[in-house]
Amino acid sequence: PAFPSLLMSLAPAAVSVSASAISSPVLRFQAVRQQSEALCRPLLPEDTVVQPVIDVSPPKWHLAHTTWFWETFLLREYLPGYQVFHPDYAFLFNSYYNSLGSRVNRADRGTLSRPALAEVYQYRQHIDEHMQLLLALADTLPAACWEVFELGLQHEQQHQELLATDIKYILSTSPLAPAYQMASAPTPAHLAPPMAWLPVPGGVYRIGFEEEGFCFDNEQAPHDTYVADFELQNRLVTNAEYLEFMEAGGYRDFRYWLGEGWDLVQQQTWEAPLYWVLHHGRWHRFTHHGLQPVNMAAPVTHISFYEADAYANWRGHRLPTEQEWEIAARHFGATAAGGTFLESGLFDPQPLPADASADQCHQLLGDAWEWTYSAYHPYPGYQRAAGALGEYNGKFMVNQLVLRGGSCATPESHIRLTYRNFFQADKRWQFTGIRLAR
Ligand code: AVJ
Ligand code: FE
Repeated sequence: PAFPSLLMSLAPAAVSVSASAISSPVLRFQAVRQQSEALCRPLLPEDTVVQPVIDVSPPKWHLAHTTWFWETFLLREYLPGYQVFHPDYAFLFNSYYNSLGSRVNRADRGTLSRPALAEVYQYRQHIDEHMQLLLALADTLPAACWEVFELGLQHEQQHQELLATDIKYILSTSPLAPAYQMASAPTPAHLAPPMAWLPVPGGVYRIGFEEEGFCFDNEQAPHDTYVADFELQNRLVTNAEYLEFMEAGGYRDFRYWLGEGWDLVQQQTWEAPLYWVLHHGRWHRFTHHGLQPVNMAAPVTHISFYEADAYANWRGHRLPTEQEWEIAARHFGATAAGGTFLESGLFDPQPLPADASADQCHQLLGDAWEWTYSAYHPYPGYQRAAGALGEYNGKFMVNQLVLRGGSCATPESHIRLTYRNFFQADKRWQFTGIRLAR
């Protein structure tokens, strides 16, 4: 709140309004679509085409893929007489839906010099206009259509987070390391409030989504789960605390590491989080605002699960399970208040106010995704939807870890206490952080 919003200054007024605060489907649709374009506005067309590593998709591809999603799952299904914008786009912009046929390999998204960015924006406009026509039929649309409409909004919000993190990676790999935007205000430098352990009584708790409104299929079915007494840290691990691990030789001692993590430390010569560089003997980080000195009070971010786990082992503690995280978040009444989200335009987890109380649990929502030591597996009673949308989440339920709580790149209206994000253990380019349990 102390910072002016960078996005607001760039984007039309509708974007500054939180998507959840608007009930009209048309306005919600416009706000989400404009937010994606606002994120890309500081880029040059050339920035939007490259794919430096397989995980990082070109921004042009994100702009087109989210548009293809609306075209495929809404317009083709529910707008009478709709003709696709271009017959090749299903091949170019289908991400991973086997039900929908062959497509460009994920690793080849950076070869798409055509269609030009301007054509992708024409595609977006075409789809937006036809979505207006569809939404004008509101009263006649079946419930199934509204469900997919909601999924389309949530899907585009997921890609907004991916845009923010992919843009950062793309700019960081440019030899010129350009800033996405210059910071509007310096990040406050002060000490983080002291770390404290907050107890949660063991017992049988209900987890999973059972409120009104939208959730992803992977948040269901709600079910009872047992946890023993545990304690959780009252805030995210800071850069200062993580630097202690680094300076204690954490990256040089196999004893703290899972075998796969230790292999990566050596192969990739990891010695610090992604984006950290020593500059004139001081640690700096590449950020959306260029190379900045590391703010020691801010939460550590851009670490893999392996690094989070090694840090926990070095401290003699552990990562929470996703069940513990959700139970604690409810127990402590976590809300989005005070959290840093995409809308802030800050693109970095923020330090807590120096006077934040030690006996409250902070930063559960926003700032940095929290690695849990839980495999991304189906909950009991999980059911894949029929058809192509059944491929959305369920087929990824192996060899990934669950992350909780959202980040500074997550739209505020997108996150919930039951939300299950998932990535492989080696991934570092998302805004991932650490909170320990014991
Ligand atoms: C939930 C972030 C792992 O990156 O593939 C985007 C989000 N799903 N389009 C991903 C997603 C479909 C998903 N993650
Ligand atoms: Fe997608």
